[in-house]
Amino acid sequence: MCKIHVDKSERLEGTVQISGSKNAVLPLLAATLLTDEPCELGGVPMLRDVDVMCRLLRFFGAKVDEDPAAARISVHAGAITANIAPPELVKAMRASIVAMGPLIARTGSAGAPLPGGCAIGDRPIDLHIKGFRSLGANVEFCDNEDGKGFVRAEAGRLKGAEMYLDFASVGATENIMMAAALAEGTTIIENPAQEPEIVDLANFLNKMGARIRGAGTDVIRIDGVEKLHGAEHTVIPDRIEAGTFMLAAAITGGSVQIENMLPNHVVPVTAKLRETGVYVREAFGGLFVDATRGALRATDIKTLPYPGFPTDVQPQFMAFLATVEGASTIIETVFENRFMHIKELNRMNAGIVEEGRKASLPGGASLKGASVRATDLRAGAALILAGLAAEGHTTVSDVHHVDRGYENLTEKLTKIGAKISRSNPGADDA
Ligand code: UD1
Repeated sequence: MCKIHVDKSERLEGTVQISGSKNAVLPLLAATLLTDEPCELGGVPMLRDVDVMCRLLRFFGAKVDEDPAAARISVHAGAITANIAPPELVKAMRASIVAMGPLIARTGSAGAPLPGGCAIGDRPIDLHIKGFRSLGANVEFCDNEDGKGFVRAEAGRLKGAEMYLDFASVGATENIMMAAALAEGTTIIENPAQEPEIVDLANFLNKMGARIRGAGTDVIRIDGVEKLHGAEHTVIPDRIEAGTFMLAAAITGGSVQIENMLPNHVVPVTAKLRETGVYVREAFGGLFVDATRGALRATDIKTLPYPGFPTDVQPQFMAFLATVEGASTIIETVFENRFMHIKELNRMNAGIVEEGRKASLPGGASLKGASVRATDLRAGAALILAGLAAEGHTTVSDVHHVDRGYENLTEKLTKIGAKISRSNPGADDA
């Protein structure tokens, strides 16, 4: 298995380019199933999760051409030849569930094993199901032969409906928006997710001929249409990758120019970094993050749905706050089990105390290199950042989680001065 090796690094300095957003591109790819015409996506990050989604689309009968050098993927779902997702792909990536909405809308039925993904909580799909049922689908749960849960939805043409999401779920909002785009009549989603990825998906669907208004606000209105057509779209930059590099600059006391990003998508990360004394200013269409201007101080974090502080940057911010003088607390409200990195950070001498959804950090830790495990995607990123600031050598295992969501992470970090490398598969296993 691959491992990432990190040594204490000097201040990171230089410029980094952010890739296209993982969380935006996955539903965009799923949306291509809504039309029998060709679609083309640009600015696509070449990641393991993207590869899984492409395999899923091919499984459903789409022709998918990936051009990694040009960061482009074209999809032509001329005919859908299957609409039950295979367990190995759904297990590999929870976001596979966003193919269900388009499949129900296009073919009248869809099935999937209950999804996997990062082990950060139970992550039920009740809100997706509530949405499909509101649109008139008949949804049933059953056990597969292997005793594992399976969900199956059947419908004629979906019918627009008014619905309220009990929690502003990103995946459920995306699934419902895609299904409702081809429904008969108008759908109103109250309390939808407002993440930039939702807006990006609505923009793409509208280019395909959908009639969606209000994406990015607290009410989305979708006037269903009979047919969608092919479209071309460029994926928004990855705000979570941008946030990760902001924290990489901060934890090493460095100064990094982050480009090809949208500063207004990372406002809470910027605000919280400024509270700690890190200087952040807009420059060259991105952000200049400078942690060289004196002592830094603690702050508190509480994760919330967008535009609140993103749960996907919580682990990286925790690694940083562990090193800053002064006590701080981090409260995780989005996922019930997203503190698995605490145990690993504590192996590095972080001294963090976990109590339910609250983490208490004494701060001022002198982190020490250790062998640690990436328990999930962003936990892996946090441990790499901690490794940059820790005395000695850190080895991060299970880096397949990191590969799900970061394009060329070790190369990008090396370019700005990080001492980081990746061991060849098998080299550490002897
Ligand atoms: C997406 C992101 C993920 C991010 C998360 C929250 C993708 C591919 N992934 O995940 O990186 O961390 O948003 O910003 O875009 N929930 C329910 N019932 C449901 C659906 C969700 O209770 O039917 C709960 C979940 O268990 C979780 C919370 O809602 O506690 C947020 O989940 P959701 O917004 O759906 O996240 P994902 O779409 O899975």
